Amino acid sequence: MLFLYQDRIMQKEEAAISPDDRGYYFGDGVYEVFRIYNGRLFEKKLHMERLERSVKEIRIEPPYPLARIEELLLHLLQEDPVKDGTLYMQITRGVAPRVHAFPDPAQTQSVLTAYVKPLPRPTETLASGIRAVTMPDIRWLRCDIKSLNLLPNVLARQEATERGAGEAIFHRNGTVTECSSSNVMLVKQGVIRTHPANQMILHGVTRSVVLRLAERLGLKVCEEAFMLGELYEADEVFITSTGAEVTPVIEIDGKKVADGTPGTITRMLQQAFEDYAIKG
Ligand code: PDD
Repeated sequence: MLFLYQDRIMQKEEAAISPDDRGYYFGDGVYEVFRIYNGRLFEKKLHMERLERSVKEIRIEPPYPLARIEELLLHLLQEDPVKDGTLYMQITRGVAPRVHAFPDPAQTQSVLTAYVKPLPRPTETLASGIRAVTMPDIRWLRCDIKSLNLLPNVLARQEATERGAGEAIFHRNGTVTECSSSNVMLVKQGVIRTHPANQMILHGVTRSVVLRLAERLGLKVCEEAFMLGELYEADEVFITSTGAEVTPVIEIDGKKVADGTPGTITRMLQQAFEDYAIKG
């Protein structure tokens, strides 16, 4: 497997990541997961813009200008081509002795790593939907930053898995935010609702694509938070992410969503997404 380390492509086994990398000590870094459809990075611009925001918000100076990073990622994909897959990349604050405050920027360079991985589309769960469970959102108040600190997400997803569910839906005092690694939307009386893109959620690339497609289809979209009770009473629920695309949620906390089958609007959005992302 090929691996991008700074501006060099090597075999993954050759990459020497320092034990003093702040990503390792503190989760002090940010990441992006790009979808690859038909050998191309999907919505590259939106991912690069989010990356730019993430590094700015946590005050990391990237090792190269972002345009150069984009070139490096494209070069990696050229060297390690896959048709359907993902490209994972991260930037940490770099290598320095373990001290909480930032290291001297004159002596430390941030570290870029990336790799490409084949990943088929999740055709089974796209068709049948998944079960979800709800959990308190115990994350920090800057969930809009795509930071490497994912412990609450990891714990939530593990609990969901142990409870036989495919995703954990988070709520803060009853207000539904998003999921462990996806955004969540409901449909009630023909209106699509989802939490506004503020500091409480990650501004998902798939979320924004789906909202755009919904508007193009003439569907009503309302970016307003909803409560757990409204989630249970929804006509349809679905999650969106780079890996999950538009995946129906058919059961929440052991209770069926409506009749327990994927809804009509969910199906419309799945089709629109496929037409746009894969066929288009
Ligand atoms: N997760 N919310 C959270 C907390 C996420 O981690 C993700 C993505 C999303 C959806 O964002 P997007 O549509 O841009 O993929 C929402 C990635 C895929 C991951 O951590 O693997």
